[in-house]
Amino acid sequence: MTKKTKTTKSGGKRSNTMWGGRFASGPAAIMEKINTSIDFDWHLYRQDIAASKAHAEMLAKQGIIAADDARKIVRGLDTILSEIGSGKFKFNRALEDIHMNVESRLAEMIGPAAGRLHTARSRNDQVATDFRLWIRSRIDDINGLLGDYQLALAEKALKHAGTVMPGFTHLQSAQPVTFGHHLLAYVEMAARDRGRFADSQSRLNDMPLGAAALAGTSFPIDRHMTAEALEFDRPMANSLDAVSDRDFVMETLAAASIASVHLSRFAEEIVIWTSPLVGLVRLSDKFTTGSSIMPQKRNPDAAELVRAKTGRVVGALNAMLMVMKGLPLAYQKDMQEDKEGTIDALDALALSIDAMTGMVRDMEPETERMKAAAGAGYATATDLADWLVRTLKMPFREAHHVTGRIVAKAAEAGLDLDRLPLAEMKKIEPRITQAVFGVLSVERSVSSRTSFGGTAPANVRAQAKKWLKRLEQERS
Ligand code: ARG
Repeated sequence: MTKKTKTTKSGGKRSNTMWGGRFASGPAAIMEKINTSIDFDWHLYRQDIAASKAHAEMLAKQGIIAADDARKIVRGLDTILSEIGSGKFKFNRALEDIHMNVESRLAEMIGPAAGRLHTARSRNDQVATDFRLWIRSRIDDINGLLGDYQLALAEKALKHAGTVMPGFTHLQSAQPVTFGHHLLAYVEMAARDRGRFADSQSRLNDMPLGAAALAGTSFPIDRHMTAEALEFDRPMANSLDAVSDRDFVMETLAAASIASVHLSRFAEEIVIWTSPLVGLVRLSDKFTTGSSIMPQKRNPDAAELVRAKTGRVVGALNAMLMVMKGLPLAYQKDMQEDKEGTIDALDALALSIDAMTGMVRDMEPETERMKAAAGAGYATATDLADWLVRTLKMPFREAHHVTGRIVAKAAEAGLDLDRLPLAEMKKIEPRITQAVFGVLSVERSVSSRTSFGGTAPANVRAQAKKWLKRLEQERS
């Protein structure tokens, strides 16, 4: 949606119509510039209008304003909603924020009745309510995107439950794993991310509206009615807390930061895997870019950008923590700084999740190369040690030592472990038999890892199916 915003040229000569009584002239141009928030809080228009409608209806029900005025207000607000939705609405920077832009337009449309809407409320409880509603719905979007991401991962994991790849620790070949197992690790991480968002959402579902400026109101309002209309769990119990609290912003950004850090780890792996030096995974032309000078290049830009966008998300969390640090109760204008970074950070996260989902669907493992790499670097050495423990009843520490000597011998001869002749192994441990070769292949290695949560293809297949079932159920 495009947004048209009008600015006053030299700063308003006229004083503000919302509080003009006390003021002889308008603000300096620079005052207007620093004070205005409409350039980003217009995002909250749906929530602002919904909360105003609920408030107007409650005021009428309680006999605080006339039913006829409430009807005019609600009808006018609906018209404004469609004006903004269709891009016809002209936002005005002199009117500072979304709340006053909407109210001022309402006054143009319905006259004096518009002035009754602000009875028993303040922009302080209004903005806190709107932003909670906005974040609540943005969390719904992100939760859905994370579900799509998990589904793409689980589908690919099922397809590659038996595809062997090198598993790394310290970015050194450690033990063979399956590609499906690696992908399912990210499904688990995304599940925890969704849990953190849901947790934040459960706490932000308390309603500030009706706290008014800070102290509550002398009008006989019914906050339970507005809470129900706006689908909050309950009105907040302390009016000072209601207008001062931005925990919901910090918590949501903390959840977003962790989710973003998770995506950055996977993005980094994609960058490594697709490097020609590694070549474990291939992205199609859909998810690579070329170089304007080097014709051979296939750059994983989307993965690099996901990795980088984590900076914005974590930056927004840090900024918000700093804004709130040391702020006395109750509302302080500092808190207006909560929106810009949060809106940007959640947009960046949503885009990153989408891009990762696209890359997961697109990526294809280079299976031959993965298998060869999985066997390189004596990655089945642990399997040899385990064989010594199991077959010869050797204590693991001793088996580790014996295996180390066998690996050194293989390295000396320039051979992989499963190519080292039995006679050579026997020189180090005479009780070793031909049967040891049964555990030295990468396939045998992964299929033996059947402990719960292990990388055996049978485990991976079962886990992938469990996730697919759960994720598909969630959609229906
Ligand atoms: N635009 C303001 C914000 O985002 C709205 C609340 C203003 N309240 C006030 N007392 N000036 O925080």
